[in-house]
Amino acid sequence: MQRSHALRLVDQLRAASGPACTVTGDAASPSFEIPAERYRAAAWFERERPLFELPRIATVSSAIARGACLPLGTVLFVRDGDGVLRAFANSCRHRGTRLVAEPCAAKALVCPYHGWTYSLAGELMHVPHAEVFGGAEQGRNLRALPVAEHAGFVWLGGDPRPHLGELAGDLAALDAEDLVVYRASRTARRCNWKFLVEAFLDGYHLRTLHRDSIYRFFRDAASVAERVGPHIRAVTARRALDQPDPRLAATPSLFVFPATTIVEHPDFISVLTAHGRDAEHTDFEHLMLVPASRAGETEHWQKSWDLIDGAVFQAEDAWVCEEMQHGLDAGTETLLFGGLEHAVAWFHDALGSWRQSSAPMPKPQ
Ligand code: FES
Ligand SMILES: [Fe+2]
Repeated sequence: MQRSHALRLVDQLRAASGPACTVTGDAASPSFEIPAERYRAAAWFERERPLFELPRIATVSSAIARGACLPLGTVLFVRDGDGVLRAFANSCRHRGTRLVAEPCAAKALVCPYHGWTYSLAGELMHVPHAEVFGGAEQGRNLRALPVAEHAGFVWLGGDPRPHLGELAGDLAALDAEDLVVYRASRTARRCNWKFLVEAFLDGYHLRTLHRDSIYRFFRDAASVAERVGPHIRAVTARRALDQPDPRLAATPSLFVFPATTIVEHPDFISVLTAHGRDAEHTDFEHLMLVPASRAGETEHWQKSWDLIDGAVFQAEDAWVCEEMQHGLDAGTETLLFGGLEHAVAWFHDALGSWRQSSAPMPKPQ
């Protein structure tokens, strides 16, 4: 987050007395309800599926060296010897086998099944016994996906700047060019993707859900947030709120619409992305980014990883999202949100605006 924004929001936090969910641009924060069907109905999810084609962070540029192949989910990232980064559907154009299963260095991409071979630019170069295809194999290059590099991040979906708008300055302020991936996790969660967004949009749950892990670092129900187009900028008060350094006084976070949350811990950064598979199944990704100059401090980072990824994000935040999905199975009709959860209303408002601006889609059942 840009320092000027962080300082301004932290000042708002300091000025607040009692529970704080100060809202810039909105008046009061009334309670509101959201129908449970938005988290359960297959038709509703189908309306939302195109959201996952918007530009989103896949990793940092430093994670893909020249000549490196990095498979992430169903996507294969490849940087050629000239430094050009490309993304492909990670699937052979013969019979669809996953082409690359593990990060590797390569001069060409060779399918493990029958040996079809592609250049790092995705062109089909060699087919064993090609004559038996009668020419049908020609032109079956890898399916290229839009990808861009911006502010030190690799963005699947293409150039993110039009989408980021004013938030671009906050992304640049993360100095991601100087960050490396310490570890990453990708877990399949049985819950709607929006739960994994909303899990990071309120400070209300810290005292209960995170009682035994990180609540000791934070104040109860004290955060301020503001909208930046469809995105959200927020800070959550730490116990050391009086510290002059805003990143010690509070934890800044950026929500990048539609499904990415960036959390600025005191000395490292988490990038959390939810990728919906269907209405009730989501891939949940966590990238832990540390300064390249301190990458060797593995004992220190491992402690942070065990706490933040293991105890907090997986065993508490993502766990409770699955518990919510189970709860909906009981026939729950609406979810109630209070003033401390106001950012969730913004998120749904942004989803509504996006639905209106996109092509007509089937009415949800
Ligand atoms: S499936 Fe890849 S070469 Fe046959
Ligand atoms: Fe949490």
